[in-house]
Amino acid sequence: MNNSEIDKAVVILKRGGLVAFPTETVYGLGADAGNPAAIKKLYGVKGRPAGHPVIVHLADMAQVPQWAREVTPAAQKLARKFWPGPLTLILRRAPGVSDAITGGQDAVGLRIPSHPVAHELLDKFGGGIAAPSANRFGHVSATTAEHVRQEFGDSIDLVLDGGQSDVGIESTIVDVTGEQPALLRPGHISAREIEQTIDAPVAAPHGASPRAPGTLAVHYAPRTPLMVMEGDLLLELATSLTRQDKRVAVLTRSLLQPMLSGLTWTAAPRDAAAYAHDLYANLRTLDAAGCDAILVERLPQQPEWAAVNDRLDRAAGSRQP
Ligand code: TXA
Ligand code: MG
Repeated sequence: MNNSEIDKAVVILKRGGLVAFPTETVYGLGADAGNPAAIKKLYGVKGRPAGHPVIVHLADMAQVPQWAREVTPAAQKLARKFWPGPLTLILRRAPGVSDAITGGQDAVGLRIPSHPVAHELLDKFGGGIAAPSANRFGHVSATTAEHVRQEFGDSIDLVLDGGQSDVGIESTIVDVTGEQPALLRPGHISAREIEQTIDAPVAAPHGASPRAPGTLAVHYAPRTPLMVMEGDLLLELATSLTRQDKRVAVLTRSLLQPMLSGLTWTAAPRDAAAYAHDLYANLRTLDAAGCDAILVERLPQQPEWAAVNDRLDRAAGSRQP
């Protein structure tokens, strides 16, 4: 990445344009968080309904008071431990933070990413960059610059290419506006690490939590119908579907590929972090194969799998085998 690309990105953002940029989790589609017209454009391109809040990305802690009026002791501990990194904190918004950012709520989502390109962009821009994941609403997130171009083509001004995102799934979101912190979205930083850091339990989202519409039942979804199931059932279903001349895409960690025609087969990593790293690229490849269904082998239920299980459940929506 050369500096002039980042300088160009800064100029585009200052003029109210849209720039996609790499972060360690997934690529973000960025707009000037202080420019409501730019945010409106962002929502239009993404196809995101108004009223959804968006995360504001910052270069460093010194900028937090411009966006949040209260940083609780738990929030401070989390920020100190995990920023820069794959954590989003939901805090009470500062006066003047627009409804376009917060979805009309009293809370704002903040994150200081660690990816060097994101950091340099934020540092040179100097303000907050509002950035949802760089994918069309409800679709699979992007973990490479090429994925972003597939999603948006010419409808955005620039894509900064920073290689493949390390983590591969979106940040852990913790609501620290209330008495007890709540986990709104699981991610690479686990609930256990959060609890150890604040030395207190984290709650599941509760009635008083700010709405996090990215946690809708169907999200992160390929266009091909996707189902998650045990390996033996998967093999049975793949056999019967291919016998009916259907084309079937499979994502598995442990199964051996059977000799069936009409199968597109992807062997995913055994390890949870590596599985997450490859997840969206694998889903995009399987989706592009033009099959009638994507069958995903069910994953272990241990805590280290919580975030990928969450994403796969949402990719499947209500579809059950
Ligand atoms: O890793 C990530 O978080 C990526 C990268 C680009 O930083 N961003 C991302 O943004 O995943 P997005 O918009 O796709 O998902 C952000 C989630 C949404 O579910 C949104 O509802 C929630 O964060 N969120 C943002 N601001 C919020 C707020 N003020 N209150 C409650 N939820 C909020
Ligand atoms: Mg998203």
